[in-house]
Amino acid sequence: MTREDVAAFGDRSIAAEAVIVSHGEDDTRKLGRELARLLPDPAVVALIGTLGSGKTRLVQGLADGCGIDPRAVTSPTFVLVQEYLGKRNLYHFDAYRLKSGSEFVDLGSEEYFARPGICAIEWADRVKEFLPEERLDISLQATTAESRTVRILARHGRYVACVETLQKLFLS
Ligand SMILES: Nc1ncnc2c1ncn2[C@@H]1O[C@H](COP(=O)(O)OP(=O)(O)OP(=O)(O)O)[C@@H](O)[C@H]1O
Ligand SMILES: [Mg+2]
Repeated sequence: MTREDVAAFGDRSIAAEAVIVSHGEDDTRKLGRELARLLPDPAVVALIGTLGSGKTRLVQGLADGCGIDPRAVTSPTFVLVQEYLGKRNLYHFDAYRLKSGSEFVDLGSEEYFARPGICAIEWADRVKEFLPEERLDISLQATTAESRTVRILARHGRYVACVETLQKLFLS
């Protein structure tokens, strides 16, 4: 989809879009690693997709790209946000267990978004109203047991170069 197509789509908050097919969890991790290299700083990445679609696998790749041990990254079960310090810091949110959007704000999400590093939010669709307009949206959809269609939307010009480079790296 070209930028002109996106404009014709009527959603002016989308500046660029890439569609990538991941053929296995290693592909999804690689996508996360490349993303960590390409994202502007600070960056907010909203992850959308059903249970087991690969959101955490992608965050593990982001961690790897940030110089953080990817094995340390799990779905935050009791803690709603995990902070990982690396070459680049990573803040991992999971909105699955939040009772309300205001609970997300109470975590200090606004302050996290402004910090140097990457904020990655699983189940971001549950807290959409509380996300910054300047962000990258990634939706993962299972097509087979091993394949995922990954849609990456730049919601602001700051993310356009990243999306365009990813599309070239992962021609689907
Ligand atoms: N192409 C793929 N990319 C990512 N994961 C894949 C892929 N193919 C198969 N899988 C499997 O799908 C599962 C993804 O699990 P993961 O924890 O990343 O999902 P999730 O979206 O974070 O789920 P949850 O909503 O429960 O947090 C893993 O078991 C992984 O092995
Ligand atoms: Mg998860």
